[in-house]
Amino acid sequence: MEVTEITNWAVDLIRVHKRYGKIHALRGVNVQVRAGEIFGLLGPNGAGKTTLVKIMMTVVRPDEAHGTVLGRRLGHPKKLARVGYLPENHRFPPYLTGLQVLDYFAALAKVPRRVRRQRAPELLDRMGMADWGNTRVSKYSKGMLQRLGMAQALMNDPDLLVLDEPTDGLDPIGRRDVRLLLQELRSRGKTVFLNSHLLSELEMVCDRVAILVGGYIARQGTLSELTEHTVEYHVVAEGDLADLDAQIAELQARRDRSCVIVTGHDTRRVNEVIDLLRRNGRMIESVRPHRFSLEDVLMEVIGGGEGEPVPIARRLDAPR
Ligand SMILES: Nc1ncnc2c1ncn2[C@@H]1O[C@H](COP(=O)(O)OP(=O)(O)O)[C@@H](O)[C@H]1O
Ligand SMILES: [Mg+2]
Repeated sequence: MEVTEITNWAVDLIRVHKRYGKIHALRGVNVQVRAGEIFGLLGPNGAGKTTLVKIMMTVVRPDEAHGTVLGRRLGHPKKLARVGYLPENHRFPPYLTGLQVLDYFAALAKVPRRVRRQRAPELLDRMGMADWGNTRVSKYSKGMLQRLGMAQALMNDPDLLVLDEPTDGLDPIGRRDVRLLLQELRSRGKTVFLNSHLLSELEMVCDRVAILVGGYIARQGTLSELTEHTVEYHVVAEGDLADLDAQIAELQARRDRSCVIVTGHDTRRVNEVIDLLRRNGRMIESVRPHRFSLEDVLMEVIGGGEGEPVPIARRLDAPR
């Protein structure tokens, strides 16, 4: 008997566990993706991102997993017809042309021949490869293979698009093209689930992000939810402030060259720092709030508090 659960989530994965022998790759992962959003699963290499996606796509069997994909229980084969999938490091038979690849994989996904014939050249064109359809994929560059992989994932006009490291091998223009494509798909109501170790890619395009580290979801939420609690103020003064270090420390601030950093939403302490500097005849150059970037949050999570401190120069340059 089929059980259809009513859920607002396009993807709702609950308590996913996976061991490969001694490696406990996923240790009770919970991930929720809203319908119509671009969701990014971010984590360093080996975090378990590909394993999670493969479990979603029923390519890998979990030790434990609950939840739904497009409203059907995880692993339900029928719903996969509504899912487009770009695997990590995908390989296509080198003797096929681009158009043949699209036709072949869409046929496997049971896309009718008439639709395949029409959609394959359209998608190649959309991916900027209109002239390459009749060339064998053995002649394609890494970036072209990746574009073809994206086209392949779209051949069944999926409701949910699952992309594992889609910008791998793409140059900056290719990466921008992928971003624009994902935004276009979102505007058409599609849901995108995106794996990446490149946070700059996710930061620019995702509505919500989960950070997977060592088989656990360390953080999950919108970009502003992930970064809102991590604010600091930078008070920059002229000259060297080393002689004031003890007093700066008393105000629970810290110093990086001529910048005094106050962590948290604490404007009273910011003013105390300014008073201290002025009392000592220092010229204030600027006072600015600095919201942490997703990268800062990622470093904090990966570092687990004992990792390398994030260099202050990069924080100052980070986008707000
Ligand atoms: N088929 C496999 N056999 C054994 N170990 C695996 C296999 N696939 C992945 N792993 C291990 O599981 C962990 C997670 O891998 P993976 O899901 O590929 O992470 P990511 O995609 O985040 O880089 C890694 O330690 C990896 O070595
Ligand atoms: Mg991977």
